[in-house]
Amino acid sequence: MPSLPPCAELHLHIEGTLEPDLVFTLAARNGITLPYADAADLAARYAFTDLQSFLDLYYATMDVLRTEEDFADMTRAYLRRAAAAGVRHAEIMMDPQAHLARGIPLKTCVDGVASALATSEAEFGISTLLIAAFLRDRPAAEALAVLRDLIAMKAPIVGIGLDSAEVGYPPSLFAEVYDVARAAGLRCVAHAGEEGPPSYVWEALDVLRVDRIDHGIRCLEDEALVERLVGERVPLTVCPLSNVRLRAVTGLADHPLPRMLERGLNVSVNSDDPAYFGGYLDDNFAAVEEVFGFGPADLALLASNSVRSAFLGQARRDLLL
Ligand code: ADE
Ligand code: ZN
Repeated sequence: MPSLPPCAELHLHIEGTLEPDLVFTLAARNGITLPYADAADLAARYAFTDLQSFLDLYYATMDVLRTEEDFADMTRAYLRRAAAAGVRHAEIMMDPQAHLARGIPLKTCVDGVASALATSEAEFGISTLLIAAFLRDRPAAEALAVLRDLIAMKAPIVGIGLDSAEVGYPPSLFAEVYDVARAAGLRCVAHAGEEGPPSYVWEALDVLRVDRIDHGIRCLEDEALVERLVGERVPLTVCPLSNVRLRAVTGLADHPLPRMLERGLNVSVNSDDPAYFGGYLDDNFAAVEEVFGFGPADLALLASNSVRSAFLGQARRDLLL
């Protein structure tokens, strides 16, 4: 594979970087007995049939994260691997409610992840920003309370996101959360159009007024939506290997990425939950290069889309372009 131009990873769940070996290391450190024989046995369960089948395992596995050090070690392992993949800037989502629900204080998960991010540029050459994502299958009132706590504790977040089970939980449920976040100067992203219909992408744009859409692959079903996204150059953070593993598409050859590029959509390539979906950013690029025959110009466009769509300061953006 030709080496990638400088890239930003904009759609990455830090809990989705928890590799099976690290799950076992953290379980041993915390005195937890796992219901799997070993790391290979755990990895063998990564045969998902849809988003929910993945989320069930994702939420169960993160139970090994107990201390600040656990969160920091997971984050550092991602940064090390991302640096090898060629990532130069990463905007990293975390799911505070998934930890609060297990009795882990907000400060433990935020400080643990943030402590690893604080040294990322010096240690790995990767600038970073943190996004707190809210779980759309839990009550909006809970998300609002967590957001207010994050603001009160001056958590080092650049923005908020919306993730977890999509169908049945439209973005409009979270209008107030996004209003409060925007008023606090936070940037806004939301998963929409992964499994959910194009109407969820419209709602994310019109009601949540997001700066980026995570996934958005179902937008092609709605011509007026495509025109809106193209006209406003709304970034779509596409995750090819994730879409294959969660069966949002029947196979990579059927993935809409080439059609999205042809339509002039502002798409980037991202890894989503790389420990679960068969690869990091370089693996995603290698797969789309091979299957779609992308050449250097396509890769350069995807890379520059990612850097231009990042919530970066001008100086760092210019350095990466
Ligand atoms: N949480 C982690 N990964 C996710 C995905 N791909 N979709 C929705 N929620 C998620
Ligand atoms: Zn995601």
